[in-house]
Amino acid sequence: MSERDFATLQATYLMQCWSAQKGYAPLGVERTEGCWIHTTDGRKIFDLRSAHECINLGFNHPRILDAMRRQLESVIYVTDDFATEPTALLAEKLAHLTPGSPNKKVFFSQSGAAAIEAAIKGARMYKTYTSLKGNQPSEDPFYPYPYKIVSRYRSWHGATAGATSVSGDPRRWFAEPFTLPGVVFAPEANAYRPPFGDAQTVTEANLGYLDYLIEQEGGSSRVAAVLVETVVGSNGIIPPPTGYLEGLRDLCDKWELLLIVDETMTGMGRTGKLLAVEHYDIEPDIVVMGKALGAYCPTAATIFSEHVASVFDEAIFGHGQSYSGHALGAAAALAGLEVVMGEGFLERVQTLGRYLGSRLFELKERHPSVGDARGMGLFWTLELVKDRATKEPVRKATEKYHPTVVTEIAGYLLKEKNVYVPGDKFGIWIVPPLIVSEAELDFVLEAIDGALDLADRRLI
Ligand SMILES: Cc1ncc(COP(=O)(O)O)c(C=O)c1O
Repeated sequence: MSERDFATLQATYLMQCWSAQKGYAPLGVERTEGCWIHTTDGRKIFDLRSAHECINLGFNHPRILDAMRRQLESVIYVTDDFATEPTALLAEKLAHLTPGSPNKKVFFSQSGAAAIEAAIKGARMYKTYTSLKGNQPSEDPFYPYPYKIVSRYRSWHGATAGATSVSGDPRRWFAEPFTLPGVVFAPEANAYRPPFGDAQTVTEANLGYLDYLIEQEGGSSRVAAVLVETVVGSNGIIPPPTGYLEGLRDLCDKWELLLIVDETMTGMGRTGKLLAVEHYDIEPDIVVMGKALGAYCPTAATIFSEHVASVFDEAIFGHGQSYSGHALGAAAALAGLEVVMGEGFLERVQTLGRYLGSRLFELKERHPSVGDARGMGLFWTLELVKDRATKEPVRKATEKYHPTVVTEIAGYLLKEKNVYVPGDKFGIWIVPPLIVSEAELDFVLEAIDGALDLADRRLI
């Protein structure tokens, strides 16, 4: 089959996500390597979003490929009535590498959404069981138990029914009205666009509102958990303002709620630590990992801290999935973790991140269309605005499917500069594979500089 043919075939038969299908025109890929996608028509494209933030270690990393090849020869998948070495080692490693006592338990699944489903169900079961005498499941109907989940508007946790229901972003609207009951949304804490207060008081004001909201929702007798992306991802790469996560931990302790952190996008070294939550002095109750965890395999994890996990010693963990604990995926994830936790890897991400940040601040100074430059590690965005003084956005958060100048810029970067960035964001994303070199960063920054000239002309 000629190379063009399979791209046409895919355009004909594949349902592209989050899109009207007319006009779908994928580029045929011949091979991938490092940060680059080589197309069948001879182009070499830099993947500045790390394949939907999954390929943190770049394409075709030899250590991961080796580990996968070795695993392929022995065992690929058995059920959890059997044990495999990589699955066991991965669970142990995650239990030790995430904050808090290592006596945790890990549930494996295949996507961020599935891992979120397990987290929500796990939190609700935990609250049900701990609301019952002696943590024992009861034959008696016991409803309502503390079942509500507090999430935030500018959040995305996945496309399955449960995960969409706890996602505040407008993609949730495709599932309404059949979303899960018992989800309450709060505004995100955003220092650039504080929903309450100003940049100085944003933490206090948001936490004050959350405290009020939890009380109004019935407190610990009605609410099970608060769910947050440690750094807001697809809704704008918004790091938490100073003191916010620590304050949220205190709030959860005060109300006896579980704190679930979704590290699907921010885990596996993306922010310069294995997990973004390690930048803050807190221990979450449940950690969700996905995307880059499996390196090249669909492997996600829901990691339950000791006090949550111990409830399931006697009470049933009423959840499960085919392919959970997939040995091949676990082998890839283990090899990926070895690379990320290897000597100097995360320090290099931090160093490169500082370099990237300083270059992005320079771009912000030069280009009036840039309202804000923000990020951590190699997880950055330039938010574009129509007016820097008023911060008028290129689109509202509720106008998810309105094409903007960002769509135009993404088209320009792909066609003219061979740089692939998402076109549906509030600005330009700079989320390269973590193995990127400084020279490669310079290449993309030069391309972005040119794209911002275009944005300046369009917006200002
Ligand atoms: C923070 C976060 N959580 C969960 C998900 C869902 O992951 P998946 O697409 O693997 O289901 C995403 C996907 O973008 C995400 O960004």
